[in-house]
Amino acid sequence: MTALDDLIARFDVTDPAFVQWPYPVLDELREATPIFFDERTDQWVLTRYAEVHETLRDRRLGRAYTHRYTHEQFGRSEPDPRWSRFHEHEQWSLLAIEPPDHTRLRRLVTKVFTPRAVEAMRPQVEALADELIAPCVERGRFDLIAEYAQPYSVAVICSMLGVPRTDTQQLLDWSHAIVKMYELRTGDDVKVAADRAAGEFIDYTRALIADKRRSPDGSLISELVAVEDQGDVLTEAEITSTAMVLLEAGHEATVNSLANGMRAMMLHRDQWTRVTSGEVAPRTAIEDMIRWDAPLHLFERWVLDDGVEIAGQPIPVGQEVAMLFGAANRDPRRFDDPGRFDAGRGDTAHVGFGGGIHFCIGAPLARLELEVSVDRLARHLPDVQLAAEPAYHPTFVIRGLTALELST
Ligand code: HEM
Repeated sequence: MTALDDLIARFDVTDPAFVQWPYPVLDELREATPIFFDERTDQWVLTRYAEVHETLRDRRLGRAYTHRYTHEQFGRSEPDPRWSRFHEHEQWSLLAIEPPDHTRLRRLVTKVFTPRAVEAMRPQVEALADELIAPCVERGRFDLIAEYAQPYSVAVICSMLGVPRTDTQQLLDWSHAIVKMYELRTGDDVKVAADRAAGEFIDYTRALIADKRRSPDGSLISELVAVEDQGDVLTEAEITSTAMVLLEAGHEATVNSLANGMRAMMLHRDQWTRVTSGEVAPRTAIEDMIRWDAPLHLFERWVLDDGVEIAGQPIPVGQEVAMLFGAANRDPRRFDDPGRFDAGRGDTAHVGFGGGIHFCIGAPLARLELEVSVDRLARHLPDVQLAAEPAYHPTFVIRGLTALELST
């Protein structure tokens, strides 16, 4: 076994110790090689900023291949019919399609989900933050995730979409079950639960769309029903997938960014003081919260065209590439002293929100939610500290804490 093989073996997403704090191994891997083949997942894995940045923008690779090839042509198996409702739920998700469908759908969705529509949410987002933080301040000890970040983030996206607040817990449960499908290795029990949740979620969303058709209320779903571009409109299946991907993508990563980032602040007290003293604005601080301990660690692409070569390695059509965001975001070739958490860094060039045609459509909303939360925490709880040592979920792709107990 070579030293690199040994290092690749330590990149083990099933190893709890690695998943708890993957950065030492990711740092070593990135410095050892820009690319390696992982036989366990049959993927070419990219470790450095430049290659990840470029691959996100390379149109010869895509998140999907079925618009161009059959599963057989691509040497992949047909989707398992046992998980048909899961596949149905993401059929028209922006994350599951490529041009020309992606171009058309994204154009219609961005006509409605605009930075202006997000900014118009600010008073409501601030009111929600105040409402949720008040009991935390009063109690003096609380779990930032369960008592603040989750209810906050779900309420924000639900309110924007026009989902009744009474249904938010149900949506959270479905969403938690569904996103487990995106981990690198999943067992049948997880898939059964994800498929069931997807089915219930689809039925719920369809009923909601019918409701908005009958009584338009200015919400995002209402606008998606009404949106038109040069005679082009969204179909019912497209609205369903879009509403669902916004609900799912709309809270999980935001919750984890806030909690991972506040843990970083607590471990780097001097940086938190820079925020509470007003030296560093919350809007600036959130960028290194996302970069330093990324909430999403791995994104994949299929090679769709001949001639793809990454870091000198030719990669044929049909092969899969995985990009390690947590490694790229700590690449010293791009970021000065990247292992240092620096609230004032404010560098928005991290790959936390991706890049290219699939760049996070929710980035303005995520940034607004994070900014308002950091502002309210700094203002109302400047002396907050860790009340217990937090632990991360045992999942590598979606990286988040099980709880973040804080006290004053
Ligand atoms: C800090 C929080 C967030 C992070 C770190 C994040 C990260 C990402 C990343 C990395 C991608 C690109 C995936 C790829 O290229 O393969 C993406 C896409 C996407 N995100 Fe986010 N996201 C966040 C919050 C949100 C929110 C709040 C929403 C919606 C309200 C959202 C909706 C989406 C959607 C719909 C896409 C797919 C866009 C497309 O394929 O065209 N995200 N996100």
